[in-house]
Amino acid sequence: MTPAGEPMAPAFHLIRNPALPPDIARMSLLADAAWRCHHALPEYRPTPLHTLATLAQELGLASLHLKDESARFGLNAFKGLGASFAIHHWLARHPEAGPVTFTTATDGNHGRAVAWSARCTGARAVVFVPSHTVPARIEAIAREGAEVVLVDGGYDLAVARAHEAAERSGWILIQDAACPGYEEIPEWIAAGYWTHARELESTLFPEAESAVDLLVLHAGVGTWPAAMVSYLWHRYGARRPRIAVVEPTEADCVLSSVLAGRPARARGSLRTMMAGLNCGWPSTTALQVISAGADAVMAIPDHWAERAMRRLATPSGGDPAVIAGESGAASVAGLLAMVLDPAFAPVAEHLRLSERPRVLVFSTEGATDPDGWARVVGRPVPS
Ligand SMILES: Cc1ncc(COP(=O)(O)O)c(C=O)c1O
Repeated sequence: MTPAGEPMAPAFHLIRNPALPPDIARMSLLADAAWRCHHALPEYRPTPLHTLATLAQELGLASLHLKDESARFGLNAFKGLGASFAIHHWLARHPEAGPVTFTTATDGNHGRAVAWSARCTGARAVVFVPSHTVPARIEAIAREGAEVVLVDGGYDLAVARAHEAAERSGWILIQDAACPGYEEIPEWIAAGYWTHARELESTLFPEAESAVDLLVLHAGVGTWPAAMVSYLWHRYGARRPRIAVVEPTEADCVLSSVLAGRPARARGSLRTMMAGLNCGWPSTTALQVISAGADAVMAIPDHWAERAMRRLATPSGGDPAVIAGESGAASVAGLLAMVLDPAFAPVAEHLRLSERPRVLVFSTEGATDPDGWARVVGRPVPS
């Protein structure tokens, strides 16, 4: 919001001539290694794919599929795909390393994933967390055996502290955002994220032709949606499905950067309920991929996330119930906004929503803040 309480303008950007994003061949080789790494983990299972036929009908879509990442590795979010591969890959490349400490900064999910992956490999983890992070998310990281360091500031300051600590103490930084001079490990994390797209190759992403026309993806620093953009270009080239990237209005660092044509700070207040997406700066490499290869970037107010959480929790018709956290529900929130809010009509037109597309969204986390979920949905998280 502007200081006067108006939504930030413009709230979207349409990419008119998308093109092949950089570094796809290297990413694809890394993603093969990640696929093998994940399949070797005892906890590995593909996550469920739901069909939301009633919601599709209500929104005028030919079909709506939702991949539910809450069951991933027992971590309640998808982030373990990136952290596990990055840690295993680092250890494989440094067989002579003695006791290692991995470190990172997080709003919750990525830190828990790094803590879990470090524990599984017998390594130590130190996780930097903004002090306003809800206790349930901090406790989930600590339960994985990590040392949690509270940082008196937001996510971006926590990232800076993790970089400094790694430099000072010789720890290995497993951060999911790239910045100049720190690109390799974020690329491994992105390669790890390809696994959930590859899990769809027997259903929605067969080799010959995609069985969906549009993906709606949400961005924090942008590494996850950028990984999906790279995958889709790698698999289908120019015949890929259309791609929309959604962010919170108050943390619109990808949108502000594509508008500026360079990495730029989010224009919003960095106060959003979508805690996992509450990032002031985008990953520099992810930004290159999204600005080259996506079709639209849009920023939505928090009330759409609340509406998406409620709708997923209490579906109509025969749709299955999905427990999605505030950030997890953001791609459904973006889909609702682009169909229902006239302010996003140009986005809907650009993405050809009137042609009744087959749509894929991801719920990237479960109720990682159970109290927050209960406040929004109006009942406790089912056990
Ligand atoms: C639940 C959830 N979904 C999506 C994202 C976005 O991922 P990225 O920051 O790589 O854009 C995050 C990031 O923390 C997240 O926690």
